[in-house]
Amino acid sequence: MELKYHIVTYGCQMNVHESEKMAGILRKLGYVETSTLNDADLILFNTCCIRENAENHAFGNIGALKKLKKEKPELIIAVGGCMTQEKGKTEILKQKFPFIDIMFGTLNLEELERLILLKKQGKKRVVEIREKEGEIIEFDGAYRTSYPNAWVNIMYGCNNFCSYCIVPYVRGRERSRKPENIVAEVEKLVKEGYREITLLGQNVNSYGNDGNTNSVDFAKLLDMVASIQGDFRVRFMTSHPKDFNEEVVKVMAKHRKICRLVHLPVQSGSNAVLKEMNRRYTREKYLEEVKMLRSYFPDAELTTDIIVGFPGETEEDYLQTEELVKEVGFASAFTFIYSPRTGTKAATMPNQISEDIQKNRIMRLVKLVNSLTRQKSEKYLNKTIEILCEDYDEKKGLYLGRDEYGRMGYFKFEKDVIGKFVTLKITKANGISLYGEAENVR
Ligand code: SAH
Ligand code: SF4
Ligand code: F3S
Repeated sequence: MELKYHIVTYGCQMNVHESEKMAGILRKLGYVETSTLNDADLILFNTCCIRENAENHAFGNIGALKKLKKEKPELIIAVGGCMTQEKGKTEILKQKFPFIDIMFGTLNLEELERLILLKKQGKKRVVEIREKEGEIIEFDGAYRTSYPNAWVNIMYGCNNFCSYCIVPYVRGRERSRKPENIVAEVEKLVKEGYREITLLGQNVNSYGNDGNTNSVDFAKLLDMVASIQGDFRVRFMTSHPKDFNEEVVKVMAKHRKICRLVHLPVQSGSNAVLKEMNRRYTREKYLEEVKMLRSYFPDAELTTDIIVGFPGETEEDYLQTEELVKEVGFASAFTFIYSPRTGTKAATMPNQISEDIQKNRIMRLVKLVNSLTRQKSEKYLNKTIEILCEDYDEKKGLYLGRDEYGRMGYFKFEKDVIGKFVTLKITKANGISLYGEAENVR
């Protein structure tokens, strides 16, 4: 009988792609995927620790497996990702969930095969967390699940130490992949039929700063990737406002393949808060970058991340965030309540904000962001957009895909067009979603 795996992924695109790498390793060992926990022979949690609720989700779902493991002792339960890489967390996990069989970190995920084999040879529990980042190991066995998009790491780790953020502690220092390896990977993906390439890094604009790339910086890399022959589009994330620059925008202008959307997390609209966050840019610099981007492309869109209730954030600071959101007119924004993370600087700052105030601010901000998104939707009415069809919605009986700005469009079609670029005439705008009629398929 075939062995089956089930992976539960939390967190960002980085983790989504790493789950694809883990799936590749499991398939090599002969496992096939199952969509249910109950018939899995191996369940793997790829965890996130960016905020407390991300951790709580993982804790809850791992805990819920106690019964299944009792009924099925041969079931292998593995836990990897950012949480296991957090200082002291594996001890807590071991105590709370003695039934976990394997634990590994973000810095040694490519060792998963060996760890599973150790477990199968009879070792009771295999816990190996690498403390320090090593050389990049090139890995081309990912089992991709996001067609027609393909995630491509350009770098790992983060050096920025924003005062609230745990990522630098659980992902190590910045390491850039060699440009020739990235280009070769994208060429291969395009040949295989992928039609959207998303370049991933915690701060893509500092690509190459570690001296690993033979002086190729992010603008140059983006140029190299977008110069690859083929009908596909290119996205990148995340850009850090302290390093985002005109060179990158010039490359965007050179290649129509590059989506004219920049994910530029602002975090706060207040200079006092930005300083305490150690973001190393001001509100003014941020707004200038937005202006510069729009001087090249008046229709460029921006998306962002915002944290409310950071220690010391006053009502006045918060209102400056609202002002900035209105001024930029983000296409969408991910909004978060500040969550203290042990070991980060902000966790010990005085003036932590009460939960009541945090909740009040996030409610107001979400309302504002949603109203902006809705207004933008209405502007799409009767316009024609091009989406990349990525899925079929069974319930709605409609295909769906995103335009270059990340806007979701739904449409009816008589045959499968997943992976095709489709021109849609928008006939209805409903909140954040658009509905249209297909005019052209490519
Ligand atoms: N490298 C990216 C983002 C990584 S984490 C960048 O620098 O923008 C994704 C988002 O989670 C962050 O942009 C931030 O808005 C949010 N985040 C990070 N740490 C957080 C914390 N402790 N509490 C609340 N939100 C947090
Ligand atoms: Fe975290 Fe800042 Fe690094 Fe982003 S740039 S991952 S927010 S430390
Ligand atoms: Fe991503 Fe969460 Fe780790 S946001 S980098 S999976 S802590």
